[in-house]
Amino acid sequence: MSLEQLIRERRTIRKFNTSPVPQDLVIQLLKKAEQLCPYDGKARWRYIYAGSPEERERLTGYLLEKITDNKIAKFALGPLLKPYQKLFSEVPAYIIVLAKREAVPLKHDATYGTVCRILQNFQLLAWEQGLGMTWRTEPFIQNELFFGNIGLQEDERFVGIMLLGHFDKAPKGRSRTPAEQRWTVIGGS
Ligand SMILES: Cc1cc2nc3c(=O)[nH]c(=O)nc-3n(C[C@H](O)[C@H](O)[C@H](O)COP(=O)(O)O)c2cc1C
Repeated sequence: MSLEQLIRERRTIRKFNTSPVPQDLVIQLLKKAEQLCPYDGKARWRYIYAGSPEERERLTGYLLEKITDNKIAKFALGPLLKPYQKLFSEVPAYIIVLAKREAVPLKHDATYGTVCRILQNFQLLAWEQGLGMTWRTEPFIQNELFFGNIGLQEDERFVGIMLLGHFDKAPKGRSRTPAEQRWTVIGGS
């Protein structure tokens, strides 16, 4: 597969099959993704993995704790909890990605940009192995309870949680707005 085809055909996968995701494979892919990304060699980010049934169940609890911890929310959203619990605990593997907060804004953006490049490399390399993922960042995940449970430090920011798994069917891609529709020439009208 050509690089262009790989980039074009990779899709976000939201429905996984039950094939296990070996931790070693994930580590190898991340290592390769980092090697393909130029940076100064000082990694200012880290990964938290959940792969065993116990780890996934614990993480599911963390993801839903904001709701289960609040009596009103738990009452109102109770009927939705069970399906979400099932959905989250059945995801074959997770990686939480955290990056250092930098004091200098330019460096802050550069570190975040580097991690995003690594994650894109990781998504492409994984795709070649038939491994799909969803990169999730929704506000409902990003709350103090969740951050406390995963051990996010004051000098760290949440980049995302990657839901990983093999899949039976890839969804169709959505059309993109062409670049020329977002194009002006400086000084032009
Ligand atoms: C930084 C970032 C954050 C994302 N956050 C979410 C998310 O919170 N929930 C979700 O379902 N998908 C999330 N996605 C996946 C995008 O929705 C997905 O990439 C987009 O729909 C394009 O689909 P494609 O990856 O198949 O091209 C995120 C992707 C990126 C790059």
